[in-house]
Amino acid sequence: MGLSREDYLGKPVIGILNTWSELNPCHIHLRERADAIKRGVWQAGGYPVELPVMSLDESYIKPTSMLYRNLLAMEAEETIRCHPVDGVILMGGCDKTTPALIMGATSAGVPFLFFSAGPMIPGYFNGEKLGSGSDMWKYWAERCAGNLDDKDWHAMEDGIARSPGHCMTMGTASTMTAIAESLGLMLPGASSVPAVHAEHSRVASACGRQIIHMVAQRLTPDQILTPESFHNACVIIMALGASTNSLIHLLAMAGRAGVPLTLDSFDAYSRSTPTLVNVRPSGDFLMEDFYEAGGLPALMEVLRPHLKTQAMTVNGLTIGQNIQGKKVIRKEVIRPLDNPISQSGGVCVLKGNLAPNGCVMKPTAANPKLLKHRGKALVFDNYADLKKRIDDPDLDVTPESILVLRNAGPIGGPGMPEWGMLPIPKKLLQIGVRDMVRISDARMSGTSYGSCILHVAPESAIGGPLALVKTGDEIEINLDARSIHLWVDDSELDRRRSVWKTPDPYYDRGFGYLFSRHVTQADQGCDLDFLHAGIPTREPDIF
Ligand code: FES
Repeated sequence: MGLSREDYLGKPVIGILNTWSELNPCHIHLRERADAIKRGVWQAGGYPVELPVMSLDESYIKPTSMLYRNLLAMEAEETIRCHPVDGVILMGGCDKTTPALIMGATSAGVPFLFFSAGPMIPGYFNGEKLGSGSDMWKYWAERCAGNLDDKDWHAMEDGIARSPGHCMTMGTASTMTAIAESLGLMLPGASSVPAVHAEHSRVASACGRQIIHMVAQRLTPDQILTPESFHNACVIIMALGASTNSLIHLLAMAGRAGVPLTLDSFDAYSRSTPTLVNVRPSGDFLMEDFYEAGGLPALMEVLRPHLKTQAMTVNGLTIGQNIQGKKVIRKEVIRPLDNPISQSGGVCVLKGNLAPNGCVMKPTAANPKLLKHRGKALVFDNYADLKKRIDDPDLDVTPESILVLRNAGPIGGPGMPEWGMLPIPKKLLQIGVRDMVRISDARMSGTSYGSCILHVAPESAIGGPLALVKTGDEIEINLDARSIHLWVDDSELDRRRSVWKTPDPYYDRGFGYLFSRHVTQADQGCDLDFLHAGIPTREPDIF
């Protein structure tokens, strides 16, 4: 390698886990940022080594990147465990990379900090600002309704992603990096720095310097990932109007840290925390606006009364010290407590006989008229069935119908794809309908919107009640009561259950086989059951 002893002898070895890939546009700049991180490591007296790990991109991975979140988590953990590294910097950003890397590094237990790819700069089309995902869904609905020709569609495509970086709405990527910062795993303010701003490189080299201090102080993840830091992350999820995916990922991360957190906990946070952040899809602005408004430190200072400010962070200071005196620059983007977007948090948990272990909804991204609704179910047995029939002109559907998709959960999907924003049937699009109640055991993209009820647990593929619904059954949802009810007698449900058959397993080999046998349900975080905290890994006794 051309190194002399002076280059590494007696120096802490810093592993830089890089998820760069030419099939991940969100991370296409991470090789240059790895060089900036190395610059900081060298400056502070360390020896940096770049270790490539799997890149999970949302754009191209099939059937869904969620199937592979746990594989990247395993790879990160084992890469750290099997190499002689004293500290680690995790480079991620595109949706699943953030929770996966953090889950793995938490289990490995060495000092680490997270560096985010940063959001893209805003997109433009016909003079209008475009938000990743959210505006794509919006214009796709117009295209399906016959209002957008090929030329305009391609112009919209060319305008919506103008730079490296992750999606610049408050989708899963922006939510998860904000969570990483609120957990204390990032340098203050780092999560929203846009990918192509000069500041982004400066943050990278600062991470390189800081990890050396963390190693010297033995600042391990168990000192940072505590019940207090997870409390702060839950508050932030609600105030952001965050991606529903974040609940699954935070549950999985808490499972790795050994911090008790349940799906029910989130509902208490949603009732007590206002939504303050006015970023699409729950609001009007984009991540660059959020950054200019003061970013997460300013938001957390507004939320100080709701936070556990003694929680420790990677720079050796508490959250309370890091946010002290941070100001909101643009109050239309980060609202004050007395002028919130909504009095309650952005994500709610519903329960009832259709979802005994819970399901989630994002009311801030839904039509308020549909938050209390009773209608007849129109059931799709799986995604192929949905695709085949949804635009059938003879489909028996009205704007009051409730669309139901099953076999889309962790095992049934497989991998719990983002199919939960079921498309509005073409015949309804053409008469101006743009939202309906939709229920599934799938997830939906954090950039999606609509009255979508997601993550129904237990999922239909293991016999959850969603498997028993028939077209024409009445379903009632009531957000205020946090309830979801299938109006079918218990005796009839028992009869249907007695004739229900478990679907054949999807995978007979490979990671999918392992995943299907060990994945937990959505209300438990969809981690592999043998990777939770508390199960020690035996290190080979060979040295
Ligand atoms: Fe990577 Fe959205 S596609 S964050």
